[in-house]
Amino acid sequence: MPAPVARFRPPQLIHGADYYPEQWRHIPGVLAADLRLFKEAELNTATVGVFAWAELEPAEGVYQFDWLDEVMAGLHAHGQRVLLATPSGAKPNWLAAQYPEIRRVGEHGQREAQGFRHNHCLTSPIYREKVKLINTQIAQRYGQHPALLAWHISNEYGGYCYCPLCKAAFREWLRKKYVTLEALNDAWWSRFWSHRYTAWEQIDRLDESIHGLCLDWKRFMTHQVGTFIRAEVAPLRQVAPLIPTTTNMMGHYDLYDYHTLAPEVDFISWDSYPIWHGQEGATTPHWHVGLWTTFLHDMFRAMKPDEPFLLIETTPSQVNWGPLSPLKRPGLHRTSNLLAVSRGSAGVCYFQFRASRGSNEKFHGAVVAHDGRNDTRVFRDVQTLGQLFKNLAPLENSRPRPQIAVIQDYQSRWSVQEMQSPINQQKNYLATCVEHYAPFWQQGYGVDVPGQAADFSRYQVIVAPMLHLLLPGTAERLTAFVENGGTLVTTYLTGYVNESDLCFVGGFPGPLRKLLGIRVEELDALPAFRTVPIQPVAANALGLVGTGVAREVCELIHAETAEVMATYAGEFYTGRPAVTRQVTGRGVAYHLAARMDADFLQIFTAAILREAGLAPLLRDALPTGVTAQTRMDADGTPWMFLMNFNETPATVTLNPMTWSDLETAQEVPAALILPAFGSRILRQR
Ligand code: GAL
Repeated sequence: MPAPVARFRPPQLIHGADYYPEQWRHIPGVLAADLRLFKEAELNTATVGVFAWAELEPAEGVYQFDWLDEVMAGLHAHGQRVLLATPSGAKPNWLAAQYPEIRRVGEHGQREAQGFRHNHCLTSPIYREKVKLINTQIAQRYGQHPALLAWHISNEYGGYCYCPLCKAAFREWLRKKYVTLEALNDAWWSRFWSHRYTAWEQIDRLDESIHGLCLDWKRFMTHQVGTFIRAEVAPLRQVAPLIPTTTNMMGHYDLYDYHTLAPEVDFISWDSYPIWHGQEGATTPHWHVGLWTTFLHDMFRAMKPDEPFLLIETTPSQVNWGPLSPLKRPGLHRTSNLLAVSRGSAGVCYFQFRASRGSNEKFHGAVVAHDGRNDTRVFRDVQTLGQLFKNLAPLENSRPRPQIAVIQDYQSRWSVQEMQSPINQQKNYLATCVEHYAPFWQQGYGVDVPGQAADFSRYQVIVAPMLHLLLPGTAERLTAFVENGGTLVTTYLTGYVNESDLCFVGGFPGPLRKLLGIRVEELDALPAFRTVPIQPVAANALGLVGTGVAREVCELIHAETAEVMATYAGEFYTGRPAVTRQVTGRGVAYHLAARMDADFLQIFTAAILREAGLAPLLRDALPTGVTAQTRMDADGTPWMFLMNFNETPATVTLNPMTWSDLETAQEVPAALILPAFGSRILRQR
């Protein structure tokens, strides 16, 4: 019989907070006050136990659960659901003292002192065993608890350990993968600089000059986290097979390949901490923070595109770990959290409920500050959003199903990071993905941000910026995608290396050369003061008009069988192709040979969408910095979220008579003014 599948189907839109009662349990009255405040804040979910190991097991094998029993019972009695954590994210002092091997070792061989958190060895059999024991206790005690909604596995897995156990496990992993040293040496191109390995034991340090080794190390560490999660989950599944599991991932984090880890849990959750009004706002338009945050929502959602995901941590106010963390301006609490819901999040949880009194996070934003009051600006913002969430119940079971994908791929990201190339100071892999995503965001298109192993047949348009490393099969699957009618867009630096980071010989873009109909000859790196105009070719098949500007990186390519849509109009490569197009089967593949300016990307994206027959959400263009997204309710009626990420009001032009405001039930005017950082939810009439 197949094992039962745990599905994450929360009974309502989640509005929750990380709660650390273990910090307060010695102070009478706090728990009772908190339970009251949870309700008053219109919260319905608490994440509990994340760093509670030392309070649950104060000495080896001595468990004390009475306080957590009381917390669980209290939360349940007050209508709260619980995301119950396993405590492996921070290890107790007694454990670290007794078993030094569980403490992580740094790259230069030094074992870390006990302290901080997120720094256990991923391989240590002792740590795995101790985690299994405490997880088993937790599972047995709370696995059937009526308040339990899901298991929160550990916290923000991160970092590498270089201890002898990890290195030995790495060598074992390599032996399985390559079988012979000969095969490993070939894959790592180790005749270079006399790096040839003649015994497995010689593989002892992470040599950054050996790119195949670096890639394998990152894959191995990802694998170790995966097996660690599996070991954590096993005792929970045994007791409560239908309770879903998740682990909180981090937005920009790239030491692990999250696409590989996604299958280890039942649903995806992530921690979003944009710094609004901070440095980003000073150097780039304010709304860029909203753009990046949306990109990340779409990336995490796409890791399990048919399941709900969860924004599991965000600050109700400021963070305390950035160089400068301004307060969220009025309106932004609501707008930034509705953004998550508009992209398919099953709700919003805050870090943290009550501000801790001491230590590292005492000045981090919290729903309840040190004054313990329920009448603060932050508390009211949270409360108001919670009330609004109750009106969004009809959206609970719908999920976005975008027809567009912008690929963000960890394997390509790693190989771009590692490469020593003419554009070292302006590689910008992730920023480039966001640049290509921006035109969709600005016109309210739904987009998935998957990796290269995604099921391409879900999409009509795929944009794959800098898909530098091609895994076996990717080129074939992209070809099938185009043959079946898809539109593919690739860029410079695509198809340069294989899965071992070895360059494709015979011309880039390697196995995509035929599909794109081009060959790359050289790569120019432009300093900031130099740009190259881009000129569309007269009467080009895409209908491209208007000039563009190339900056930072220009490939000099030959259109072998592709048609040229635009050419460079500057430098010694004037007249050479900058944008190409090739039809294959029922679809079409475009290549952008240079890093284009935002305006050109917008024109180009609008043209390919027109050709693909994907209409924008609204007839009139949205103002810059405003985004929109629709979600279907249970009856199949579209709801549109309109969100202004500018610090000034913006006017959106709507089709009158077709939309009503969800909150006022009034018909909305054709020219709808959104205040600074304001948002509206409209329902189609
Ligand atoms: C997260 C972490 C939380 C808390 C928070 C503060 O990364 O998971 O435990 O430290 O940051 O912003």
